[in-house]
Amino acid sequence: MKDAPDAILGSEQAAYLEGIEPARDALLEEMERFAHDRRQPISDPEVASFLAVTARASGAKRIVEVGTNIGYGAIVLARAAGPSARVLTIENDPQTVTIARGYIARAGLDAQIEVRQGDAIAELEALVAGPDEIDLVYIDCVKEHYTRYLELVVPRLSARGVIIADNVLWKGLVAKSEVPAKEQARVDALRAFNRALVSDARLRAVVLPLGDGVGYAVRSSS
Ligand SMILES: C[S@@+](CC[C@H](N)C(=O)[O-])C[C@H]1O[C@@H](n2cnc3c(N)ncnc32)[C@H](O)[C@@H]1O
Repeated sequence: MKDAPDAILGSEQAAYLEGIEPARDALLEEMERFAHDRRQPISDPEVASFLAVTARASGAKRIVEVGTNIGYGAIVLARAAGPSARVLTIENDPQTVTIARGYIARAGLDAQIEVRQGDAIAELEALVAGPDEIDLVYIDCVKEHYTRYLELVVPRLSARGVIIADNVLWKGLVAKSEVPAKEQARVDALRAFNRALVSDARLRAVVLPLGDGVGYAVRSSS
């Protein structure tokens, strides 16, 4: 979730784009209010729309989300991908896992979404040691670990697979010469991630000025 509406776009443009987002259903609206009131970092609505469009366009059946929070992104992805798709989503905080499972149950998506409690890197390492390919990966977790998540998932990406990474422009700070000291490590990590994403010969990738910045990659044709 972006902290400042004008971090990437001008505030007028950001407000305009948020204003044309279609209304969410009652459950997603409740989740947005819950996240706002408890300062939980769920995806921005326009990023959620991008997830839904990409899930539909790619026909993804095996989806992995790195960073569940309260289950907002997982619900959007599962609904868009349809009943034959499966979403595995990883969250390390037990209380947050319980909240996410509650919302997922209320969405009627228990059978489609598995919330796995654990550390994202450890869970991804276990996952990619198995035989299954991944059709869509949504990276939305520890910013300092994005490059490691990428290294782990690229070899398991299916031929038409898609990688989406949120917050890669981090309030616009990745493009600034002056960065607050408390943000420096995160900004350095995201700069390294963006460079790795767009320069990986196995991928064709772009960084989009959507929400807080979204990295978007498919397999390269070569
Ligand atoms: C930005 S939120 C995810 C939002 C979610 N993807 C959505 O679309 O609404 C990131 C989540 O990652 C979790 N997290 C932080 N460190 C983690 C780790 N090492 N392993 C797994 N999850 C972690 C946080 O508790 C937080 O809920």
